[in-house]
Amino acid sequence: MVLSVLFSSRLALMAGTPADRSPTYAEQVSRILQEHCVACHQPAGVGPFSLTNYPEAKAFAREIRLATQSRKEPPWFALPGYGEFRNQRQLTVEEIKTLGAWFDAGSPMGNQKDLPQEHKQSMWAYGPPDAILAVTEPYTVAASVGEDIRCFVMPTNLPGPKAIRAMDVRPGDPSVVYHVRAFADVTGLARRLDVQDRKSGFDCSLNMGSLFTQRLLGEWEAGMTFPPLTDGIGRYLPKGADVVLEIHYHQTYKTTSDRTKVALYFQPHVQQYVKTAAIVNRTIRVPAGRAGYRATAEWVSTGDIVAIGVSPHMHRLGTAMRIKASLPGGQMRDLVWVNRYDFRWQTSYMFKEPIPLAKGTIIRVEAFYDNSEQNLNLSPHHPLHESRWGNNLKDEMLAAFVEYVDLKSPRNVPAQQ
Ligand code: HEC
Repeated sequence: MVLSVLFSSRLALMAGTPADRSPTYAEQVSRILQEHCVACHQPAGVGPFSLTNYPEAKAFAREIRLATQSRKEPPWFALPGYGEFRNQRQLTVEEIKTLGAWFDAGSPMGNQKDLPQEHKQSMWAYGPPDAILAVTEPYTVAASVGEDIRCFVMPTNLPGPKAIRAMDVRPGDPSVVYHVRAFADVTGLARRLDVQDRKSGFDCSLNMGSLFTQRLLGEWEAGMTFPPLTDGIGRYLPKGADVVLEIHYHQTYKTTSDRTKVALYFQPHVQQYVKTAAIVNRTIRVPAGRAGYRATAEWVSTGDIVAIGVSPHMHRLGTAMRIKASLPGGQMRDLVWVNRYDFRWQTSYMFKEPIPLAKGTIIRVEAFYDNSEQNLNLSPHHPLHESRWGNNLKDEMLAAFVEYVDLKSPRNVPAQQ
């Protein structure tokens, strides 16, 4: 009896099926880290330590298990089961188990021969761009404990209007650039603000709801892919417009210099331009000391539209936002539920499949704020005071931007502002 048990377990070991062999760095773990982590966890990335080789991964094996089991890492703030997204940054249950089992087995290296090929990093994500723009003057990012939101104006000088299909970004210093958005400005406002500020660009934290921030051209975030828009759909870049780059620098312990570049890809044949519905509530008043303050906003579609993505926006006190669509037939559909909002990651959630919303659909936004001492993001709010709507980052916002195309009016050029 004892013999036969020994014998069969020996057999299982020899057969070596994946189920009963512990995972190794060479075979499984390196691949998971390469796909989901090293974009940020590398010497020049926003992650606080590097995970690009075996000694580095082994040194953090316990933290990796903890942070992935709790779904703290990779950073992704939407609750699973409430919408599916093209730019999702999440591990599968299987991958989380593998990372845990690897730590439990003593974080073995395995066989060097199993290591994956190194990723070749091409210069631009989607091939040769149609236009490359660069911030003209390097910006000095000062060592600080808070974030710095800076805008830079880049003239386009293109011969006619364009439809943008995709955008890629090369940060000058990737360890401090968290999030980048590009907007079109035809008003000259951004140029005026730029002239008034002596340093390169201007302080965008004072202008969070300015005119030019209504016209999104593209978005980029460390370690995230925003796939190009599908054929025939583009974001409108008017002739003669400036491109305004809004860069979210996070805290840095060393003073550094950044000069970011952006690549634009045009849509050759455009049938529909993307429009944006700004769903806002400007009457919010978050009382001093209050955790769990709730406020709502609503928007009704006046035509048959197809939603392609949604972007929740609050400032530092925001903790959660849930966005739902009530369809005319009575059906309810979740667009996104960001259950632990983090101001640093101002992600747009791009739907895996476009969502048709018939005329009369009501989009309902429910937002939560914490203006109490428990909120660790509170630093600029001392002493505690009531916080209201405002363009300054020190004020609050309740906004959800829904990007959509309008089926009834194809090629409708978005109105000039
Ligand atoms: C988009 C960038 C990004 C990606 C992708 C990413 N991380 Fe991180 N990670 C960070 C940042 C930034 C921090 C520092 C903590 C913070 O600021 O939130 C961090 C912190 C950590 C920590 C420390 C956690 C703690 O409790 O302090 C661990 C462990 C970690 N990451 C592991 C991973 C693993 C494993 C992956 C891949 C599965 C991953 N990260 C993917 C950006 C990233």
